[in-house]
Amino acid sequence: MTVRIGMIGPGGMGQAHIERIHTVIAGGRVVAVSDVDPARAAEVAERIGGVSHLTSAELIASPDVDAVMICSFGPAHEVDVLACIAAGKPVFCEKPLTPTAEAALRIMEAEQAVGRRLVTVGFMRRFDASYREMKDLLDSGELGETLMVHCAHRNPTVPEMYTWDMAINDTAIHEVDTMRWLLGEEFVSVRVDTPKKTSLRFPHLQDPLVLILTSTSGVRVDDEIFVNCQFGYDIRCEAVAERGAVSLSDQELTSVRREHTAGNKITRDHNDRFRGAFVTEVQEWISGVARGEHTGSTSWDGYAAACVCDAGVKALTELGEVAVEMIERPAFYA
Ligand code: NAI
Repeated sequence: MTVRIGMIGPGGMGQAHIERIHTVIAGGRVVAVSDVDPARAAEVAERIGGVSHLTSAELIASPDVDAVMICSFGPAHEVDVLACIAAGKPVFCEKPLTPTAEAALRIMEAEQAVGRRLVTVGFMRRFDASYREMKDLLDSGELGETLMVHCAHRNPTVPEMYTWDMAINDTAIHEVDTMRWLLGEEFVSVRVDTPKKTSLRFPHLQDPLVLILTSTSGVRVDDEIFVNCQFGYDIRCEAVAERGAVSLSDQELTSVRREHTAGNKITRDHNDRFRGAFVTEVQEWISGVARGEHTGSTSWDGYAAACVCDAGVKALTELGEVAVEMIERPAFYA
């Protein structure tokens, strides 16, 4: 069976997903697109030999679409995810599921009402081979209990429209989800530290930031968010446990020695660094849809990450720790 996919919002991320679905991933084909920019939808549809719809509602309702990928921007996700749930169609929604926990709660309620897990959130780091190896080692217990995790999320630059809260909702959300998954715990509080600002970018932005997250059992996670670091897309993570520590390695394929130096490349962007993770993530989703099974992160994961981010955004303007407010996990998402 070929899963016929409708793509909403074929911008940077959406077109990257289309490209992998049509080249390296088996079992799916993007047959329909829609975008708030109809010219973009028409251009992409023509390129892939698909149909362009004027509205996302029309795309979701189409009998020729088996499953939907939502790659529009965060505030537009909720209405389309709810429409997919109402239509009973599996939906892969790029992160963030929604920009607020309140909106994610409405999605969870709708999904529970239809009684079927339909929503997968695009938290791709769970599919990254290096994070998976790290998790296997920590879960094996060989290093004892995990005590602390040091993370860094560095981007070369961001555009002027990037705002303070995006550092939490769009950027740090990756570490929030990955750390929940790695530790198998929720976070109870967030603090945000504001180090000396870089002079190399827009003055409106506090960059870098450091999030300090505390988990239910007391694991402390610090996450440096530095989105104008200039030198590359650099994702770092070291988990410190009772009997050892484990880190993501540099992602180099080769190391070069010349002119009295040795070094390796640093990736340029998320597509470069997480190429394999994106392929595995989307392949598992398509294969799951074909089997009628849910795979990947759930609406609960989208909600829990949004709760931590809501607290993080609050912590941007409040001194000290902000408690994470979250409902109890419904049995439906156990
Ligand atoms: P983009 O701006 O390149 O593309 C967004 C597309 O959605 C554009 O074509 C835009 O016209 C369209 N759009 C906006 N509102 C819409 C609406 N209401 N209905 C239909 N189409 C609409 O943005 P990008 O970078 O592709 O990001 C898209 C999503 O992917 C965001 O949620 C973002 O957070 C996520 N993302 C995830 C990454 C990851 O590492 N997993 C990396 C980059 C983005």
